[in-house]
Amino acid sequence: MAQAVHYKELGLVNTRDMFKKAMDGGYAIPAYNFNNMEQLQAIIVACVESRSPVILQVSKGARQYANETMLRCMALGAVEMAREMGLDLPVCLHLDHGDSFELCKSCIDSGFSSVMIDGSHLTYDENVVLTRKVVEYARQFDVTVEGELGVLAGIEDEVVAEHSSYTQPDEVEDFVRKTGVDSLAISIGTSHGAYKFKLKEGEEVPPLRFDILEEVERRIPGFPIVLHGASSVVQAYVQLINQYGGHLDGAVGVPEEQLRRAAGSAVCKINIDSDGRLAMTAKVREFLANNPTEFDPRKYLGAARKELISLIKHKNETVLGSAQRV
Ligand code: G3H
Ligand code: 13P
Ligand code: ZN
Repeated sequence: MAQAVHYKELGLVNTRDMFKKAMDGGYAIPAYNFNNMEQLQAIIVACVESRSPVILQVSKGARQYANETMLRCMALGAVEMAREMGLDLPVCLHLDHGDSFELCKSCIDSGFSSVMIDGSHLTYDENVVLTRKVVEYARQFDVTVEGELGVLAGIEDEVVAEHSSYTQPDEVEDFVRKTGVDSLAISIGTSHGAYKFKLKEGEEVPPLRFDILEEVERRIPGFPIVLHGASSVVQAYVQLINQYGGHLDGAVGVPEEQLRRAAGSAVCKINIDSDGRLAMTAKVREFLANNPTEFDPRKYLGAARKELISLIKHKNETVLGSAQRV
């Protein structure tokens, strides 16, 4: 059992103030997933250099992979590293896609400042009950909670729009009032992973359902909205991966202009995981192919980390608009 620790002892912040500033300023806070030291270093270096607040996101799988005590200490190290670099960087440690009350509680007890309870696969009423339970626990520790309404399409689906169930704007006001969540993830056409849209020859990526987003904004004005599945699946990385032995055929994501548009709306948090994975994999493959005698992990992971830094700076500066906000 991990020792109970409050996130403020780790120098972390919850999302409340971050989202208020993002809403007022017309930008979105980046939520980058991490599982290891190089990813975390890259996120911190990039966010300090671009002066962007940041949400460090940990999935259930990441927590199992890295060990919960290790993760807590890494978050503490991340905050201190940013300070040593000369910036009091707002850093939030957030559970991504929490699937049970017990997991959310365990994260809150081990120093997370924000959790997501993803009840989107439950019935509406069950989602409300579970989300409310997490909010009631989290409130005691001033931890913020993200809920979800609507289901994002899975990567195996043929066409995203056919299999996802978009958020129903009719439900959002009631859900937010009954649960007391601090932010709401919605489904407007994105999906997780590197295969977001199945396009035929010559077809373009379909636009996200901005009409649903606008209707949601009308129902709950000024309420922070979260966009999952927001990787652009950078084609330069896909090509590098394929050039150096990988097989990612037809990988495609959300165009940057659409994300920029979303960031200017009530969308206050944009989740990015796959693009970071692609960047690192591309550079590791390239490095190892070009340096067949190297076997020092610092060399190939160093190359991957360097690329991740430049990708994250680009996202903060050009896509989310979160740069120069600290
Ligand atoms: O939404 C899911 C995130 O990309 C985390 O993925 O469960 O493989 O860590 P993961
Ligand atoms: P991507 O797979 O598009 O990076 O989405 C990540 C995400 O939504 C994490 O919750
Ligand atoms: Zn997600």
